[in-house]
Amino acid sequence: MGLQDARTELETFITGLPKAELHLHIEGSLEPELMFALARRNGLELPFKTVEDVRAAYNFSNLQDFLNIYYAGAQVLRTEEDFRDLTVAYFDRAAADGVLHAEIFFDPQTHTDRGIPFAVVAEGILGGMAEAQARHGITSKLILCFLRHLDEDAAFATFRMAEPWLDRIAGVGLDSSERGHPPGKFARVFAAAGEAGLKRVAHAGEEGPAAYVWEALNTLHIDRLDHGNHALDDETLVERLVATQMTLTVCPLSNVRLCVVPEIGAHPIDTMLAKGLRATVNSDDPAYFGGYIGENFKAVALGRQLSREQLVTLARNSFLGAFLDDPTRQDYLRRLDAYAQKG
Ligand code: HPA
Ligand code: ZN
Repeated sequence: MGLQDARTELETFITGLPKAELHLHIEGSLEPELMFALARRNGLELPFKTVEDVRAAYNFSNLQDFLNIYYAGAQVLRTEEDFRDLTVAYFDRAAADGVLHAEIFFDPQTHTDRGIPFAVVAEGILGGMAEAQARHGITSKLILCFLRHLDEDAAFATFRMAEPWLDRIAGVGLDSSERGHPPGKFARVFAAAGEAGLKRVAHAGEEGPAAYVWEALNTLHIDRLDHGNHALDDETLVERLVATQMTLTVCPLSNVRLCVVPEIGAHPIDTMLAKGLRATVNSDDPAYFGGYIGENFKAVALGRQLSREQLVTLARNSFLGAFLDDPTRQDYLRRLDAYAQKG
């Protein structure tokens, strides 16, 4: 078989691989084309003339560089229909990438702080999730993220706003600027979320140190760790994550674009697997980082020469780490096993 044929075969295997996406910011799936369409629909001016101009601006040196553009882009989202269209567009892409289940983040404060009611945001996204299930059979859950560059009182205010929707929100998360905003800042609101029966996740160890991962474990009592790259700097921490089978939602193309790793060929995804960490592959903000979940799998598969067995392990980890009920989890795992056996 030629090199090109082998590559096509690998890509086909990855596309068909049943998988779950566990780290996706819905606002980060806003493609420039939709950004222009929504700006037009809402009578807004964008500081860019063309889609190419927008893409050319996506040249980041760190997390904050990206966040500035990401928050600016989100301003075109105004109506329930906007949030619904955004969500449906993401799930169309996910379905084409073999995603059976997705747990997606949203950042309510990005919208409520500019006067968009929480109800508009939540109903739009939940409506899009329901439509995706009807269209593609994809199951999904919603995770409310607090912006860590704001204070805990603001997080509490957001949590109170979310109260009427808590039966349709699976968990809370923590995102935005990591450095200088340790997880402990949100200990009380995470405790309240836990008491309300919600799952807890947090971004930690993306740009921040291993100490922030410890804090997310011991102070926020997280059920899943988003990113976690810097956990590798601390062997005792790795042992703890392995012993508890904590799921890490790793985002390879994001890591390259935000300079968390120097290049895809240096990505530690296989090191994580070799250490026994329950690592998964996810897309983070695919419209900004150059690819959806399938592209992330392909990038690490080629960049790190992963075996099919390793790819299946990554997909299995995604179902093991999802907040699914047991029968659904078993059903998805059986579908994965059947695919791995015939593939
Ligand atoms: N890190 C922190 N905050 C974020 C990210 C991320 O990767 N994406 C969207 N908000
Ligand atoms: Zn993220």
